[in-house]
Amino acid sequence: MPGLRFEHVWKLYGRQAPAVADLSLDIAEGEFLVLVGASGCGKTTSLRMLAGLERPSYGRIWMGGKDVTDIPPGRRDVSMVFQSYALYPNMTVYKNLAFGPRVRREPREHIRRRVEEVAEILGIGGLLDRHPGELSGGQRQRVALGRAMIREPSLFLMDEPLSNLDAALRVQMRAELIRLHKRLERTATVYVTHDQVEALTMGDRVAVLKDGSLLQVGTPAELYDAPATVYVATFIGSPAMNVIPGRLSIVGGRPRVACLGAEFEVPWPLRPGAAARDVLVGIRPDDLGPAARAPRGAVRIGGRTDVCEQTGIAIYATVNCPGAALVARLPRSPVPAANQPIEVAFDPRDVHLFDSRTQASIADRSHPALAGVASPAAAAPPGTTK
Ligand SMILES: Nc1ncnc2c1ncn2[C@@H]1O[C@H](COP(=O)(O)OP(=O)(O)OP(=O)(O)O)[C@@H](O)[C@H]1O
Ligand SMILES: [Mg+2]
Repeated sequence: MPGLRFEHVWKLYGRQAPAVADLSLDIAEGEFLVLVGASGCGKTTSLRMLAGLERPSYGRIWMGGKDVTDIPPGRRDVSMVFQSYALYPNMTVYKNLAFGPRVRREPREHIRRRVEEVAEILGIGGLLDRHPGELSGGQRQRVALGRAMIREPSLFLMDEPLSNLDAALRVQMRAELIRLHKRLERTATVYVTHDQVEALTMGDRVAVLKDGSLLQVGTPAELYDAPATVYVATFIGSPAMNVIPGRLSIVGGRPRVACLGAEFEVPWPLRPGAAARDVLVGIRPDDLGPAARAPRGAVRIGGRTDVCEQTGIAIYATVNCPGAALVARLPRSPVPAANQPIEVAFDPRDVHLFDSRTQASIADRSHPALAGVASPAAAAPPGTTK
């Protein structure tokens, strides 16, 4: 199906804050788009509107160049895995998987082959004779996934389909879903998760929602390298970005930032007209390391070590600096002792800057190095005032 579009879509339930607010988003044919955000941000509601299970309060939804806002779910050629997966309790796994194809009157032999294929991919081949009540949560979730996979629809909608799986199985299923998506070349997948690692590893593009609003949509690299707001900056990436108050000044036409008792020149372009102001300085833990290994021009900050977290490949250490506690990435050995003096450093090229009042990035996103990022929208539903 060529393309999907949310066009100024709102979903309002009674008098509470909008579940979805002025969502405009294009999803290309064959694209794997991830909707990510905290609980309650409107992910499931957006997906249900694509499936036709909810009608937008305002706005239109387009599929393949057709306005489908008023088209019922059964006529949308969409396969959805629900967050609260409902299986038929009195049917075996085999019958649950075969239910859709049977309703569509597909040939019996073809159905058998498809069920076996899908069961094989999902590692549930040995469970075909069991009933859902005899399965673990993760096994049930895989059956629910299988029911969607058995079709080859124009659009896959998946609402946290891996949330009940253990870590190893989740990584394996992620790979299977990406493989499935690649095989169905023209099928778009819209995938919901609250897990930013899942979002970054699976999405061609990732859309970050907060309180019903789309904050930013971009490739995983764009979101990581050029977050448009402090929220996106701290939501994407683990451990979370350090955010420190600072002051931007323009000295001899060049932007300089003072923070943590240090001062440095900003070596990349700011938005036109960016003047002196209070800023929030963002530094990813991965961009903050031991000063001894820092490149020339790095900014050095002295502090004392606090808690250290081993990840196997590195240590993320909290460093108490005057005015802020920063998380820095240190080599895995030697393991630093607690409360030891340490000097950490960052390269000003890796710094992110946000206006402290609006929380928006003040990097010049029209610059090639920082392009491709949407601005957060602020709007009110049609016919209302904010
Ligand atoms: N049928 C409904 N009636 C009233 N409010 C609703 C309804 N469905 C959802 N909401 C509200 O809309 C907002 C968005 O809900 P939604 O289910 O889309 O969130 P979500 O991002 O999927 O969250 P989660 O990660 O917890 O599944 C929430 O505040 C929720 O309480
Ligand atoms: Mg949900």
